[in-house]
Amino acid sequence: MIDFHSHVLPGIDDGSDSIETSLGMLDMWRSQKIDRLCATPHFYAEHNTPRRFLRNRDAAYQELMEAAKGQKGYPKILLGAEVRFFDGISNVAALPTLCLEGTDLLLLEMPFSRWTDRMLREVAEIRRRGMIPVAAHIERYMDFNSKSMIRHFMDLDILIQCNAEFFLSKRTSRKALSLLKDRRIHFIGSDAHNLSSRAPNMDEALQLIQKKLGTRTIEYLRRMEEMIDEG
Ligand SMILES: [Fe+2]
Repeated sequence: MIDFHSHVLPGIDDGSDSIETSLGMLDMWRSQKIDRLCATPHFYAEHNTPRRFLRNRDAAYQELMEAAKGQKGYPKILLGAEVRFFDGISNVAALPTLCLEGTDLLLLEMPFSRWTDRMLREVAEIRRRGMIPVAAHIERYMDFNSKSMIRHFMDLDILIQCNAEFFLSKRTSRKALSLLKDRRIHFIGSDAHNLSSRAPNMDEALQLIQKKLGTRTIEYLRRMEEMIDEG
């Protein structure tokens, strides 16, 4: 199974702070039988350009691959970004370079505030340009926005990612299972940043999903993953 959202690359954002931490995180994914991992460092347009971001990301990746040489059973890393929404994002020519490698999937972090119709129009415009926005950790916006706004957003022709924690927190588990049952969640990620407070936790969430929703839902998640193979 894939982990769609992680901050595993060392020293590039507020995720892993060192090669040792990254290797420790990879050990955890390996023991959780995660075979693919999307490395999605934060991209903030106010601090970075796509070109500089990609250069730094690729250097961090190479450094990690070098350190992981000889290890067996680590997940294959796919390079991507978690792109924070900003006004005008839909007009950025280089935006497709931030998609998950080999795909048109763009992991998009929406503002942690009340959304406006204008924001939704920009997301729709990204889709119209041929990219497929994947809304990162949808659960984190539910306190800022009305149910109808969230529903309207999810009804755009986009995909939805949620964090494993959405299933694991007692407060939200029921909601997470219900959205997944309705196939309104398409990808799950750990959004792991480190080895302690935000560690890889996909296995617990997948076990819960298997227990509550059964094998058919696990198979559905695997079918969604095939989108990544197809590009
Ligand atoms: Fe993240």
